[in-house]
Amino acid sequence: MKRRKCGKLYGIGIGPGDPKLLTLKAKEIIDQVDIIFSPKGDEDKTSLARSIIEATTSVPKEFVELPFPMTRNKKVLKVYWQKAAKRIAEEVAKGKQGAFITLGDPFIYSTYIYLLRTLRQDFPNIEVETIPGISAFNAAAARAQVPLVQGDERLAILPVTKDLRGLRETFEAFDTVILMKVGSKLDKVMALLAELDLLKHSVLVSRLGQPGERMIHDLSSLNQFKREGYLSVIIVKNPKRGTLS
Ligand SMILES: C[S@@+](CC[C@H](N)C(=O)[O-])C[C@H]1O[C@@H](n2cnc3c(N)ncnc32)[C@H](O)[C@@H]1O
Repeated sequence: MKRRKCGKLYGIGIGPGDPKLLTLKAKEIIDQVDIIFSPKGDEDKTSLARSIIEATTSVPKEFVELPFPMTRNKKVLKVYWQKAAKRIAEEVAKGKQGAFITLGDPFIYSTYIYLLRTLRQDFPNIEVETIPGISAFNAAAARAQVPLVQGDERLAILPVTKDLRGLRETFEAFDTVILMKVGSKLDKVMALLAELDLLKHSVLVSRLGQPGERMIHDLSSLNQFKREGYLSVIIVKNPKRGTLS
């Protein structure tokens, strides 16, 4: 009797947008798998991760877009994580090799983290391998030519939440602060940076490696570019700290 091929899932970080920032390993696996799962927000016409991959792979692939609504409601999200895990498990049970593709690195603020946890709980026998990717903040630093940390310096990476409490202390305690998920909170962040006299020590990179990419050094000049949107990273260097100059 012919033995059934063993299925497997790869969770793959595909970088922030430029297909050339896909690692060789990610590209190799994406070219080999039978099926690709890509996350899709409810406001997106198509999955951004999917469009990045479609620019790199010549092999026609079976694509499954898995919806994940943009909500903070854990109950609602849990339903979607469970549905996604079930959909993936069905395909892997058929012996397929699958890839769940995710922007940047899979373990930096990614839906993949919740999906992996759900898979481990609901389908513990599925083999999963995670392939790291270049995070948006790595690519933003390189693009802006801003060294992140040197010597004994300290780096903080955090999402901008509605409540900016704590952010002030973070700016004081770290030499470099990376703000992700800036989105609609940009105005509030700008106000705080202005108050702390950090605007000219900040760089914003938006839609990195994608059409409409923007980079603004010294955020005092940002007014004309307001509403940079969800896909933005801000790097703030605190000039009062810094162990080396
Ligand atoms: C849900 S998190 C995913 C982060 C991703 N896993 C990573 O490692 O970059 C989404 C945030 O990543 C950042 N981001 C992702 N892609 C980006 C891009 N192409 N340009 C600028 N920021 C990006 C933005 O801060 C965005 O709000």
